[in-house]
Amino acid sequence: MAAAINRAMPSLTCLDTGEQPILTIVDATRTHGDGARRVVALSHANLILRSGEFVAVMGPSGSGKSTLLNLAGGLDTPSSGKVLVEGRDLASLNVARRAAIRRRSIGYVFQDFNLLPSLNAIENVSFPLELDGWPICKARKAALEALRETGVAELALRRPEDMSGGQAQRVAIARALVGRRRLLLADEPTGALDSAAGTKVMEVLRSRADAGCAVLMVTHEPRFAAWADRTVFIRDGRITDETGATDFDELFTCDGEDDDDAGDARNSSQQNFRNNPGEQ
Ligand SMILES: Nc1ncnc2c1ncn2[C@@H]1O[C@H](COP(=O)(O)OP(=O)(O)O)[C@@H](O)[C@H]1O
Ligand SMILES: [Mg+2]
Repeated sequence: MAAAINRAMPSLTCLDTGEQPILTIVDATRTHGDGARRVVALSHANLILRSGEFVAVMGPSGSGKSTLLNLAGGLDTPSSGKVLVEGRDLASLNVARRAAIRRRSIGYVFQDFNLLPSLNAIENVSFPLELDGWPICKARKAALEALRETGVAELALRRPEDMSGGQAQRVAIARALVGRRRLLLADEPTGALDSAAGTKVMEVLRSRADAGCAVLMVTHEPRFAAWADRTVFIRDGRITDETGATDFDELFTCDGEDDDDAGDARNSSQQNFRNNPGEQ
């Protein structure tokens, strides 16, 4: 496998620190349908995420962002190529084993939240832990802590139908945070949030990466992508470019233009958070 990865991504071998990546995507293509109806949702994608890395994914609607996340999360399998999570090839596992790895190792924030309508917030968040054999009391305690982290602990007993879109989104994020997952996948996790709640979510994702998780987040908003270590751009199913957060800032700043106040606020908030995570 290592040889296959090196063949597919010769430019990345020099960055290899010897530590096993949390997520490795090698030459992954996903097509739907046949003949004239064939759609290439993702084409020959390569991506490595290591412990501590926060990577943003940007691209137009229909470009393949959700497909990339679905493959990374084992919700879908590539038509060709490989997806490894902590060294395990998800497609080679049976359904039960893959589901167990998804519950234990992968936190997924769905674009449309996917909360179970008959369960309240705390039950929705603790459900994957309980499925995994956690004692109910311990699972509920962890769920409440995650709801606190995303700022919706007061909704613990509320069902999804009685929540706003933004509240449901924060419950869905809490569900991805519980347990000891090392890979967090978030598909537009700020889509339903106002600016302050969005920034709070970025702080949570950033702190998880700083604590050793790998985070892959789809976003349309440059100010949220700026929280990531690097940004991957997708167009027509192809990864077209990768850039570090600093380069990214330059891409979105025109020559001679003063930094806008929102950008300054974001940079300062991000810097403060990185320096003093306990004081926010
Ligand atoms: N199950 C499917 N059947 C057919 N086409 C699909 C399916 N899933 C995704 N696609 C197509 O693949 C492309 C990429 O989709 P997607 O990954 O959802 O894009 P994005 O998340 O960037 O908006 C789109 O053209 C979409 O219509
Ligand atoms: Mg999408």
